[in-house]
Amino acid sequence: MVHAEARRRGDIIRGMNDRFAELYPQHLETVKQRHDKALAETGYDHIIIFGGEIHIQFLDDTYYPFKVNPHFKAWVPIVDNPHCFIVYTPGEKPRLVYYQPVDYWYKPASAPSGYWVEHFDVRVIDSPEKAKEHFPKGGRSAFVGEPNEMHGGDANPEALLNALHFERSWKTDYEIACLTEANVRGVRGHRAAAKAFREGKSEFEIHIDFLLHSSQAEEELPYGNIIALNENASVLHYLNHIREQPGDLRNSFLIDAGAQYHGYASDITRTYARDEQGEFAKMIAAMDAMQQRLCTMAKPGINYIDIHMAAHKEVATILADFEFVHGLDADGIVEKRISSTFFPHGVGHFLGLQVHDVAGFHQDRAGCIIAKPEGHPYLRLTRIIDPRMVFTVEPGLYFIESLLADLQKTENAKYVNWTKVDEFRKFGGIRIEDDIVVTDDGHVNLTRQAFADA
Ligand code: GLY
Ligand code: MN
Ligand code: MN
Repeated sequence: MVHAEARRRGDIIRGMNDRFAELYPQHLETVKQRHDKALAETGYDHIIIFGGEIHIQFLDDTYYPFKVNPHFKAWVPIVDNPHCFIVYTPGEKPRLVYYQPVDYWYKPASAPSGYWVEHFDVRVIDSPEKAKEHFPKGGRSAFVGEPNEMHGGDANPEALLNALHFERSWKTDYEIACLTEANVRGVRGHRAAAKAFREGKSEFEIHIDFLLHSSQAEEELPYGNIIALNENASVLHYLNHIREQPGDLRNSFLIDAGAQYHGYASDITRTYARDEQGEFAKMIAAMDAMQQRLCTMAKPGINYIDIHMAAHKEVATILADFEFVHGLDADGIVEKRISSTFFPHGVGHFLGLQVHDVAGFHQDRAGCIIAKPEGHPYLRLTRIIDPRMVFTVEPGLYFIESLLADLQKTENAKYVNWTKVDEFRKFGGIRIEDDIVVTDDGHVNLTRQAFADA
């Protein structure tokens, strides 16, 4: 029985590796073409991409977690080895300078292996200083990465980065497969976390269960887990994980947590009520239904700002339906910016190698910016949507003390049912967040698909 299970898992892993091996060459070809074009436009002969180094803590001999340069992991799924470089000259096989020291204090990286290795001219170095022996000798090099005394070229030229960032908006099939798998893993963590909440565990214990079931160490997460019970859910990026919580005080649970796969992120949020028959549970259901309506807007040609503005109208409708606001219809609630008190963030952002992926405002490869609508400073995506774009849809509705206090001081305070608002402060808030990939005629919801398959 145990052997059969091990064999089954082995088959699944082999099948997955085969699929990524199949998709990777086309991905690499696209990455090369994007670099060829951007280098030609900006007058460079070569690019040297530094994966990054580890940084030592102040007055200490221990290190901060290593975070790889996203430009580096666009080429190779290496996320945990510092002092590596991609060196690329258009028309030539890309070179991977791979750091593998002789070390008995720390375990050195294993020899490069996997479906991607054959596509690189791999040069192993045993000390960081040797990297430059493998850099191009003549011509103009652009250096992309954390500034480093070895780079010997122009560091992070803006025009080159703008072009590369713009191109990253369209994901390759390989990248979509990575993002799909990141959702599958994130959803495993989410299911375990929901169970932990029902069992009465603390934020800290739920956090640990998420890590265990998504098979991630804390430093491998795409972003810090937001695991919030009760009013803590009103803190948009709540990163504390309280260890002790009396069992009878669990009214609500908001979890915003994702996973990484080959350097690509998922970003998923769910909200739960302890009392599944109560009014807060009904509000969660209303938010869930409206989030799915917003997702149906995801198709080629839509302006993402329209999804954001539709979210405001939906939040306003819920505020009116649940009698938090009276004397105004949904349009009035949006117009008077009351919806912004309850929904102060953007409805989503690009997703990919970075959880808030680049180029959300780029009109073109030169980096011209598409402005955010007035009064919506935290929106991170203002683009017209194309097939292969991947973004989140994450409306929220919160009871945030400081914003409510601001609202209370304005003319608009008279429209608010403060007794009702006060009753709901203890729940913190609601956010529902899915990851969407746009197809030629619509979209695939990677998160709902992963929950449905789980
Ligand atoms: N997890 C951060 C965000 O949803 O944008
Ligand atoms: Mn997000
Ligand atoms: Mn999130």
